[in-house]
Amino acid sequence: KVPYVVGSKSPTAVAINCASKAGEWIKSRLGLVKELDTKLSAQDLVTDVDKGAELMIRKLILTHFPDHDILGEEDVAPGAAAAVKALSEVRDSEYLWIVDPIDGTTNFVHGFPYFCVSIALAYKGEVIVGVIYDPIRDELFVAEKGKGAYIHGKKSEVSNDGSLSDSILAIGFNPDRDFALPVNMKGITALSGEVRSLRAVGSAALHLAYVATGRVSGYYEVGLNSWDVAAGVLLVTESGGVVSDTAGNPYHLGVRNLVATNGKIHAELLETLSAADATGL
Ligand code: IPD
Ligand code: CA
Ligand code: CA
Ligand code: CA
Repeated sequence: KVPYVVGSKSPTAVAINCASKAGEWIKSRLGLVKELDTKLSAQDLVTDVDKGAELMIRKLILTHFPDHDILGEEDVAPGAAAAVKALSEVRDSEYLWIVDPIDGTTNFVHGFPYFCVSIALAYKGEVIVGVIYDPIRDELFVAEKGKGAYIHGKKSEVSNDGSLSDSILAIGFNPDRDFALPVNMKGITALSGEVRSLRAVGSAALHLAYVATGRVSGYYEVGLNSWDVAAGVLLVTESGGVVSDTAGNPYHLGVRNLVATNGKIHAELLETLSAADATGL
């Protein structure tokens, strides 16, 4: 049962408000980046717009829910170890908001029109609200635990594809060149021989939203952070899909090596990754 949060607005309404306000502002800053920095590597970017959007979202959340905790990407030091530590410090909070102000920063910086705002709310470690907003296409994806998932108010459902050979899959070129990318490349090579086609739009959250709405039948990536996927995972499960780690264990906050599908191709995808030694585990 979704717990009730006392306040003038429901948490879902606040999440939608945050995502759409931040999304509109991010879109207005396309091509107008003032500060571009790298984090761990030349592939790991951050801009003044990522930071500004996260601040905007934090302020709005705290106006309505001053006692809630917030885990936002740009408040955490770069790298996997810092991300794992930051999550472990707040994962037992009663209410925890998990915020990725821009998922797809590389796209944003290059003017490639695929990025989004991703906001999730977890209650005692379980995600109960997930909102993803793509300001370029003005697409709003909303999921509430136990209540289904919607794209602009229309019920979202995963695809019906029954095998990899009938499926388009989404994959990611992770910015972690040392560990994650080589593993992902093994998976990508193995999958490319099995599936109808592969797609990589450069946003983990949008990939998950696309699994939820049946635009792709699955998504695989090793080396993800909680803010990349928390909202999207709920979208997929509330749309009838399945999410696990790359060994097939059920998703929980903190899973970094992720497989999300329509359910029907899940076992085949897991087997292909395992045979290719591409689980990252
Ligand atoms: C990244 C994107 C990308 C994925 C990376 C993420 P960011 O998030 O989701 O698609 O491959 O693993 O780090 O840095 O743009 O928020
Ligand atoms: Ca980033
Ligand atoms: Ca991200
Ligand atoms: Ca980000």
